[in-house]
Amino acid sequence: MNRKASLKIFETPLILAEAFAKEFKIICDEFILKNGFVNVALSGGNTPKLLFEILAKDYISSIDWKRINFYWVDERCVNAESNESNYGETERILFSKINIQNNIHRITGENDPEEEALRYSGLLKSNLPEINNFPKFDIVLLGMGDDGHTASIFPDQLNLLESDKICEVAVHPSSGQKRITLTGKVINNSEKIIFLIKGKSKAEVIKDIFENKNESDRFPAAHIKSTEGEVIWYLDEEAGSLLNQKF
Ligand code: 6PG
Repeated sequence: MNRKASLKIFETPLILAEAFAKEFKIICDEFILKNGFVNVALSGGNTPKLLFEILAKDYISSIDWKRINFYWVDERCVNAESNESNYGETERILFSKINIQNNIHRITGENDPEEEALRYSGLLKSNLPEINNFPKFDIVLLGMGDDGHTASIFPDQLNLLESDKICEVAVHPSSGQKRITLTGKVINNSEKIIFLIKGKSKAEVIKDIFENKNESDRFPAAHIKSTEGEVIWYLDEEAGSLLNQKF
């Protein structure tokens, strides 16, 4: 059951990122007003980097960063110095510009993957509120790969959507790189799930997810349906270019 899903299309990746940065502040302020803090899970990849650059440029003084608890949706099993590290890239682009440390909870990519999946699961269980027997994030930012993967849930590992664990070890299908990922049930347990997707290489999968639903079950991103809140798809025009319905 998907309580609510909406789609917004923006002319360019920069306009998309600027629009979401504005929305990110609004949503964070709402949660901070209501709860005193906000629990956010970040994804990796290229699209969020544009967002982090805008936040670092225009929002350093207007967002109450100390009240945002940062977690990750997934992490590559590399150390933080690697340019593959989702935490490392966020630290270099954004966190290095803001004086916060205590509220950043990275997945330790350099640890043993199985041990780290257990450790991070325990951290989320103790730090986050629980509903439906799973930790609940306020905001989860997701991307989507050309193959329809999201987080580090790949088309050949759809079982991670239904796992009853909080985090699992995933394996990138072509590189073999190990990753730690939130499972589908944890992602879907979140209040606001926001996809940030850009580029023509995503257009076919987006069309199948939105207009050929019987073709889309093989894509992990098609299974992201918030049970507690809403899914908002932020696309640039290229990613949305094959959609018949105009938004
Ligand atoms: C990761 C991400 C992954 C990413 C997609 C889209 O660790 O790589 O979590 O799921 O969101 O691959 O990446 P782009 O934003 O670069 O297209």
